[in-house]
Amino acid sequence: MKRMKKILSGLFVFALAMLLTGCSSEKRIIRIAHAQSETHPEHLGLLKFKEIVEDKLGDKYEVQIYPNELLGSAQKAIELTQTGAIDFVVAGTANLETFADVYEVFSMPYLFTSEEAYHEVMNDTDYMQPIYHSTDESGFRVLTWYNAGTRNFYSTKRIETPEDLKGQKIRVQQSPASVNMVNAFGAAASPMSFGEVYTAIQQGVIHGAENNELALTNNKHGEVAKYYSYNRHQMVPDMLVGNAKLLNDMPQEDLDVFMEAALASTEVETAEWDKAVQEAKDYAQNVQGVEFIDVDVQKFKDAVKDVQAEMLAANPSIQDLYDHIQTINAKYEGKE
Ligand code: GCU
Repeated sequence: MKRMKKILSGLFVFALAMLLTGCSSEKRIIRIAHAQSETHPEHLGLLKFKEIVEDKLGDKYEVQIYPNELLGSAQKAIELTQTGAIDFVVAGTANLETFADVYEVFSMPYLFTSEEAYHEVMNDTDYMQPIYHSTDESGFRVLTWYNAGTRNFYSTKRIETPEDLKGQKIRVQQSPASVNMVNAFGAAASPMSFGEVYTAIQQGVIHGAENNELALTNNKHGEVAKYYSYNRHQMVPDMLVGNAKLLNDMPQEDLDVFMEAALASTEVETAEWDKAVQEAKDYAQNVQGVEFIDVDVQKFKDAVKDVQAEMLAANPSIQDLYDHIQTINAKYEGKE
């Protein structure tokens, strides 16, 4: 009887130890946060990331994806990634400006003159490396980019010319460059996080916002703002950002797999983008009753014509990347 008791208590201690160390928990859980829904191209790209990491390193890592700002707004999730509380986050470059001001370049209105130039610049992984490493000291770095389309104004009030923006409160991302840009257009910029926009429009706190077409459907903004105007002021990439310590400490062969997975996620995401935009437009038009308005883009360009020069004068660290982008722009304008 005594022996039995001893065996049983031994078993109990063993079971407890297994529970505490977690028998299957030799695996490192990799948490990725993003702000989009589960049908968004970024989520589909991240599923590819998970598939590759788990296929090749499934005995060591389990990847968990948290969509819909479940772990907080982009800014909050970046802070969590800095400390290592989560491992990766997808965030627009506007959110990175406070950590490395080179990212301000993407907030310039009319920076890229074609989608081709935008894609070529962003797909040049070698060129982007030093920029991606520019946040190392802040505890995170960029692995790859995702297409977030072209940003346009949308509102509860019709916008056809920059004059129509006067007196309109327009939500912008929480970065000084974004605020300046929208104010330069003549609107009153109202910075807030992405997740707050729907309610703010619904309650009349703001008139509208500016974003790609997917914001109308994935984030339901088309339920509350019925005029979407193609003034095409920006193409701003989203970035897959990783905790620097995790990336620096992992064995090189693991890092190679994470990088391969990151690049593959970009391929999936960018391949899905155009289709997703078309679907969003169809749904917004036919179900939500959003009107898509073609405007005279030149008038919008004229309204902000000094902004690029002002930004370059204020922030020398964007000059090199700006010049590089101009070279690629010229190539697709046939000016080379
Ligand atoms: C887009 C972009 C996000 C960004 C959001 C915003 O959806 O993909 O990264 O956060 O716009 O305007 O806040």
